[in-house]
Amino acid sequence: MNNSHLLLSIAILGGTGKEGKGLAFRWAQAGYHVRIGSRSADKAITAASEIEKMLGEGITIEGLSNLEAARGADIVVVTVPYVAHRDTLESVKNELHGKILIDVTVPLVPPKVATVQMPAAGSAAQEAKEIVGDDVQICSAFQNISHEHLLDDEDIECDVLVTGTSKEARSETIKLVEAAGLRGWDAGPLENSVVIEGMTSVLIGINKKYGSTHAGIKITGAKHSTD
Ligand SMILES: NC(=O)c1ccc[n+]([C@@H]2O[C@H](COP(=O)([O-])OP(=O)(O)OC[C@H]3O[C@@H](n4cnc5c(N)ncnc54)[C@H](OP(=O)(O)O)[C@@H]3O)[C@@H](O)[C@H]2O)c1
Repeated sequence: MNNSHLLLSIAILGGTGKEGKGLAFRWAQAGYHVRIGSRSADKAITAASEIEKMLGEGITIEGLSNLEAARGADIVVVTVPYVAHRDTLESVKNELHGKILIDVTVPLVPPKVATVQMPAAGSAAQEAKEIVGDDVQICSAFQNISHEHLLDDEDIECDVLVTGTSKEARSETIKLVEAAGLRGWDAGPLENSVVIEGMTSVLIGINKKYGSTHAGIKITGAKHSTD
């Protein structure tokens, strides 16, 4: 088996938070080189060592400023609240040329987080494209996966829909979805991210109404390559 993709390094901007830590845990466990990014390098180092302890001996994760994390990475993932989306991307955009950016952001507007509220660009992912420019491949993924699923070792039933600016970038992102122990589906161009980002508000509403914490989605009626 060709494991060369495991040499890739992944920066997670805002990786000190709930979703970012969960993804860091899953990818480090799968053998990727993970770089946690933060506005504060010290906070990133603390988060990295917390995740290392959960993983056990022999796995190291770096903690860096968002800028340094992005600078040394092959793939950059952004996991910050929507209010911090623009500033975070502006702060690293010069480090993204020629790379894949995976946007996990949901444009939630508190307090009405169970109501779909998209930005003028159409979605957070399309807004990311406007901010970072055309020489960055952008994918959108993981918006429908609760962090509660990611930080344990159990199988996750939910699927991940991946949209993006090219088929190649979607395919690379699907590899990371599968490395995280999830089933990834190519859901087409970045413009389709509006549906997936919007679905998160629907799932938040379902959690509230039905007393759950991690409702998700699953594609049925189509055969997946991993089935
Ligand atoms: N939590 C989930 O289950 C989940 C599921 C799917 C999608 N998402 C989406 O993923 C993104 C991250 O969610 P999360 O729950 O991980 O968020 P979070 O824990 O509240 O925040 C993540 C990180 O973002 C940075 N941050 C927070 N507020 C900021 C601000 N005002 N300005 C700049 N940076 C700020 C912080 O990093 P530093 O202080 O270290 O810079 C923080 O640790 C959101 O867009 C969310 O909608 C979350």
